[in-house]
Amino acid sequence: MPAVSLRCRRCEAEHELVAVGICSKCFAPLEPVYDLAAQRAAISRESIEAGPLSIWRYADLLPVAAPKEQRLAPGMTPLVSAPRLAAALGIGELFVKLDTANPTHSFKDRVVAVACAKAVELGLETLSCSSTGNLANAVAARAAAEGMEAVVFVPSDLEPEKLLATAVYGATLYSVKGTYDDCSRLNVELSFELPWGFVNTNLRSYYAEGSKTIAYEIVEQLGWELPTAVVSPIASGALYARLAKGFQEFLDLGLVEGSLPRLFGGQPEGCHPVQTAFESGQRVVPVRPNSIARSLAIGSPADGDIAVETAKLTNGAIYSVPEEDIGPNMALLAEQAGIFGETAAGVTLGALREAVRRGELGDRDRVVLLVTGDGLKTPEPVADRLRPIQIAPDADALLDRLGIVV
Ligand SMILES: Cc1ncc(COP(=O)(O)O)c(C=O)c1O
Ligand SMILES: [Zn+2]
Repeated sequence: MPAVSLRCRRCEAEHELVAVGICSKCFAPLEPVYDLAAQRAAISRESIEAGPLSIWRYADLLPVAAPKEQRLAPGMTPLVSAPRLAAALGIGELFVKLDTANPTHSFKDRVVAVACAKAVELGLETLSCSSTGNLANAVAARAAAEGMEAVVFVPSDLEPEKLLATAVYGATLYSVKGTYDDCSRLNVELSFELPWGFVNTNLRSYYAEGSKTIAYEIVEQLGWELPTAVVSPIASGALYARLAKGFQEFLDLGLVEGSLPRLFGGQPEGCHPVQTAFESGQRVVPVRPNSIARSLAIGSPADGDIAVETAKLTNGAIYSVPEEDIGPNMALLAEQAGIFGETAAGVTLGALREAVRRGELGDRDRVVLLVTGDGLKTPEPVADRLRPIQIAPDADALLDRLGIVV
């Protein structure tokens, strides 16, 4: 395992690889440091291809050793081409990364697998998180697979499907009267008092690195080539920022040639603090969320400022997507690509459409659209599509109705 320490992003103080989310000197976030020479010696295309069909094929690029027994391992989700949607939008080549194919149907299984591997290594017995829904599902399932306790904190207005998809695994589910940001603050306080692994608090440095595996897989699945652009949803900003890190690491290790893909991000109109900061050039200012894309309703994004830097670094952009476009975008993705993504996917497709509208992306591009969560968990915005035609079990009557004379 080539990770050697955690380093403060602000004052650069080094910390041991334990359950600590912020710098003890200046309270800034911590980032894993890797032994680059060890990575160069260990990692090649061949070594990766010989690995398991999961995120653990990239263990040498992660801050924790691969678990001995890889239960319910996420990753290596399909990258499917979507030529009809590409033609409808006017994009050269379009691929969709189907992260709905993970064990709990969202990309959060990746980040939780990495954080939990660390929790197990440290001997922690309870896995916890504050969540906008999908993370709670992933923590609950992972704890069940590992034989750990799960305790999750979610805002009280979550979709019933997401609540059930947590409770079914036997997790203790606290429905907090407040927003995600209230749950998050509660977790920070509790993390000083309880010997639990809070995946997005005291294990956040490990958790965030799990998102890099999406970038690695995209490169590998494109035959060791880079796309020209990737479009991603943004809530805390962790996923969006780690995509760039993942692509950069593959470039630095000589596993792929070319330049960083342009990264485009989407936030819903009802909660877009990162987009505002990108547009204004200022630091992120917290907002009070009010969006139907509940998975993206984080008003005080932990990685918001790094996400803004990522957009600039990659010559990308971050767009805000109107609330009323989210449902129609979910339907468009379903009708043109056969993929039922959740509200976050409606926002992500909205960002892609905006990039095309502004002439940023077009027929010369090879684009990857991330579908990070499953529409079956958030069916409400497309409920108006459900218009079944009531008929009797009578073929003649149906043929008659179709105007076919026999
Ligand atoms: C489906 C889905 N996509 C994207 C995100 C955004 O992730 P991040 O907080 O890393 O920006 C979330 C976060 O909950 C999510 O549930
Ligand atoms: Zn510091």
